[in-house]
Amino acid sequence: MNNTSSLPAAVPPLLQMRRIDKTFGHVAALKGFDASIAPGEFVTVVGPSGCGKSTLFNIVAGLEEPDTGAILRFEGKDCEAADLLGRVSFMPQRDLLLPWRTVIDNAILAIEVEGTPRKQAREQALGMLPEFGLAGFENQYPHQLSGGMRQRVALMRTFLFKRDLMLLDEPFGALDALTRTMMQRWLLDVWQKHRRTILFITHDVDEAIFLGDRVLVMSARPGRVKLEQRIELPRPRSAELLTAPEFIRIKRVLLDAIEEESMKSFTAATAGATQ
Ligand SMILES: Nc1ncnc2c1ncn2[C@@H]1O[C@H](COP(=O)(O)OP(=O)(O)OP(=O)(O)O)[C@@H](O)[C@H]1O
Ligand SMILES: [Mg+2]
Repeated sequence: MNNTSSLPAAVPPLLQMRRIDKTFGHVAALKGFDASIAPGEFVTVVGPSGCGKSTLFNIVAGLEEPDTGAILRFEGKDCEAADLLGRVSFMPQRDLLLPWRTVIDNAILAIEVEGTPRKQAREQALGMLPEFGLAGFENQYPHQLSGGMRQRVALMRTFLFKRDLMLLDEPFGALDALTRTMMQRWLLDVWQKHRRTILFITHDVDEAIFLGDRVLVMSARPGRVKLEQRIELPRPRSAELLTAPEFIRIKRVLLDAIEEESMKSFTAATAGATQ
């Protein structure tokens, strides 16, 4: 692994993942995944489709158990995946808004499940609506919203469920380029204000660099960290950065690594199809 970015020794990691393997029947989804996340870091994850990114998030969210031999440490303590259930905020790959619940009631779902009385939960959420660009939409239903608004409701649900670590699985995947760019800048503002630690999956290399303090490039399945790239571009970040020479240089390095892995995945998939 090309490790250009060891964490500073003085900062104990919020999350450590060591030797994470996960097999589903004959499919090895993850093999030897190793990474540490520092408190307050924004770490982006890119890699070929099917390399185990969502599986990794399901493990860290406590929804899947890794195979034996894996080591997870959260807030300085060894733990099983199941111990992490409810201790991290998780926005899954699909936004999972409930069609029969309004914006406000979708936003409060996680904290309501956790035990916050509905009235109190609604009050908390109402105060956050303007920041999430949803003021005045509290009583609308998901089908009445644009794609960008739906994503913001799902993000608001994730932010309301206040945990130090947030897992966001391709939160902007379904958006057009312009809306996506606006959402990225908005997310950086919100992140800077709320001071959370974020692990963020994306297929968009520009997005990974623009948002991240570090980018992890995953290998083809079984997924592990192939390349770890620290992004030392100044914050706050603005659109001009996308054409800065340093941005382009990093993008070339990442694209080369991703392309190599995507070719492996494609070759494996087509070989499987012809067998
Ligand atoms: N619950 C499951 N049961 C069986 N196989 C699974 C399960 N979850 C994931 N897999 C398999 O594990 C592999 C990794 O899937 P995963 O969803 O983690 O990939 P991904 O990197 O998130 O892909 P994408 O970028 O397309 O979202 C795939 O081959 C998938 O079919
Ligand atoms: Mg996925």
